[in-house]
Amino acid sequence: MPQDTQTGPTFDRDAGDTTDFGFSAVPLAEKQARVDDVFHKVASRYDVMNDLMSAGLHRAWKDVLVGMARPAGRPGFRHLDVAGGTGDVAFRIVEASGGKAHVTVLDINGDMLEVGRQRAEKRGLAGLDFVEANAEALPFPDKTFDAYTIAFGIRNVPRVQVALNEAYRVLKRGGRFLCLEFSQVDVPGLDKFYEAYSFTAIPAIGKVVAGDGAPYRYLVESIRKFPSAEDFRDMVAAAGFGRASFTRLTGGVVAIHSGWKL
Ligand SMILES: C[S@@+](CC[C@H](N)C(=O)[O-])C[C@H]1O[C@@H](n2cnc3c(N)ncnc32)[C@H](O)[C@@H]1O
Repeated sequence: MPQDTQTGPTFDRDAGDTTDFGFSAVPLAEKQARVDDVFHKVASRYDVMNDLMSAGLHRAWKDVLVGMARPAGRPGFRHLDVAGGTGDVAFRIVEASGGKAHVTVLDINGDMLEVGRQRAEKRGLAGLDFVEANAEALPFPDKTFDAYTIAFGIRNVPRVQVALNEAYRVLKRGGRFLCLEFSQVDVPGLDKFYEAYSFTAIPAIGKVVAGDGAPYRYLVESIRKFPSAEDFRDMVAAAGFGRASFTRLTGGVVAIHSGWKL
């Protein structure tokens, strides 16, 4: 059964009244406002920056995530994409389902959702709705969705275990939880290159393209503060999910965690 606690079994970044915001410790109650400020600043440049920072790799990672969600051939499939931002994952789900899935894009930041709405309109995509809400308090009844995804979102949420418990609550029996997130590089050589690239190139690209390096420094620091793939898998299991597991991609630059509501 899901735990009611706010902390994971082996991950205590949320313990007490402080948590991390990148490399800084901040009061738990302040983190969300700071995160929101980052995404208000980057919303209009978010998609172009994603392509530049990841050399387009985020597209391939999202395709793997959507493949695992298996939306094809399932009429009536209800999918929730949390921290869905500008809609990238949601659009892929709708397309992969042949237009049969209904996808709810949920994000706490209205600016990110607005970019998403405009992109969906330009593409003529139907079967989507956009909900401004917090991953920690989902505004849906229990057992509403067949699948839940969260891509590059969970590390921004102040109380990660609370968000995982909410994911469990809103999924139907047999529903699947999938999380794509940056992880730890486990390939010798690649780790050093990745470290240098993240802390030097990414804020520099942010400064040139988006006019401010600071939000991108937060993004890189928050990746380093996120728990190991093993610890995060234990948190997924603690939320109640069965068969909690993870797959590393691109030498561990990202990992996809999976769990089933059995
Ligand atoms: C790095 S973006 C990821 C966007 C999208 N999923 C993608 O992969 O392109 C992180 C998103 O998480 C959202 N976010 C942060 N805290 C949140 C919370 N507590 N609940 C819901 N969304 C949140 C931000 O507003 C932002 O849009």
